[in-house]
Amino acid sequence: MSQQALPPSWQHVGRHALFPESTLDDTTRFDFLANMNGYLATRLGPKVKLAYEQRVRPAFEKEKGHAPQSRHEVRKAMAGDPVYQTWSALRRNTMEMRQQAGRGLVLRQLDALVEKARALNAGDDGLQLDPAVQVPRYASAVDIHCMPGGYHTELVADDVSAAANYDCGIFATTGGMLGRYNDGGGQALAQWLKEQHPQFRPRRILDIGCTCGHNVVPLAQAFPEAEVIAVDVAAPMLRYGHARARALGVNNIVFRQANGEALDYPDAHFDLITTAMFWHESSATAMPRKLREINRLLAPGGLTAHLEQPQYHGMDVYEQFVRDWDTYNNNEPFWGVMHEYDLRRMMAAAGFDPERYFETRVRGVVDRDIFPVASAQGEDHGRAALWTMFGAWKA
Ligand SMILES: C[S@@+](CC[C@H](N)C(=O)[O-])C[C@H]1O[C@@H](n2cnc3c(N)ncnc32)[C@H](O)[C@@H]1O
Repeated sequence: MSQQALPPSWQHVGRHALFPESTLDDTTRFDFLANMNGYLATRLGPKVKLAYEQRVRPAFEKEKGHAPQSRHEVRKAMAGDPVYQTWSALRRNTMEMRQQAGRGLVLRQLDALVEKARALNAGDDGLQLDPAVQVPRYASAVDIHCMPGGYHTELVADDVSAAANYDCGIFATTGGMLGRYNDGGGQALAQWLKEQHPQFRPRRILDIGCTCGHNVVPLAQAFPEAEVIAVDVAAPMLRYGHARARALGVNNIVFRQANGEALDYPDAHFDLITTAMFWHESSATAMPRKLREINRLLAPGGLTAHLEQPQYHGMDVYEQFVRDWDTYNNNEPFWGVMHEYDLRRMMAAAGFDPERYFETRVRGVVDRDIFPVASAQGEDHGRAALWTMFGAWKA
């Protein structure tokens, strides 16, 4: 059997002035979890597939007279299988443990983190919070991917804890495959633009659902002359994101609390509008609304580009079932339904010319000196550094 490379140790995570202080115990916890995730994906995962092929599918076929025809049929048939149950329970447990590991690390130093963020956020108007912004129900009804309190909950004044937890833990969840600053998607988009569209020099960039800015920072770095607006509904993410960007020496991003469904910028205000890992957390009614808003805000000749995991169309039903695990077990209620949409048609309904719609694959850009194996690894059913990028140029 070929030897799978171990994920990089959490000690290589990208640190900045706001990044929480950690101990050897924290590193060890995150390393255990990253390796456990790797084990589940690369060692136990194939055995789950074997259980499907050798006993679950044959039993289904015997009973129904045909093979499972949808991921839902596969899921219902697999639910009672002990190998699947073991894999699924361990996967859920690693996510819960990852949240608790990050939360424990952050909460014990929360006062200091809040003070550091306050200091970094002082001195310019790049952080624009608006307490009147409501967190939409689709973002608050469940603790998305088991994050206690989701993105938005505030425990103390000027809270940054949810964001600090997110910033620490995502490296372990993804096994480092998004790069040391978890920005491989944004870097990939910046690189794609430089290589494929070197003439495109956006003056105003909007990133919707920026969280703590992992993927918008590389765009701001790639276009230092551009005015970049990063919006999110969650204040803790924006406080942390602004402070993190300043700590990384990036000064051309305004982090603004606003709902991407309706923004107060004039028509055609932006040349580039992006999202990263955003749509699978939008409801079925909110996504078309946001796309219409993007269409309104985009200038003629402008580009909108979105990084997501691949759509299910044309994918084998077993692969769909594995990818759909998050919908039912990881508090990602829109994951499955979003990956079913006909995105070209949805963008056309939002006003984009279907002839100018595109879909491509981009590979997360990682720090190869530290992660020599990362870009060579296969996909991890939704957590890997291989992205689908869809979007459109505005006529
Ligand atoms: C999966 S995260 C996106 C990750 C982020 N783009 C990155 O690059 O790291 C989804 C984010 O969308 C935000 N969000 C959800 N609904 C929103 C809305 N209607 N308007 C703006 N932000 C929203 C959430 O608060 C959360 O921070």
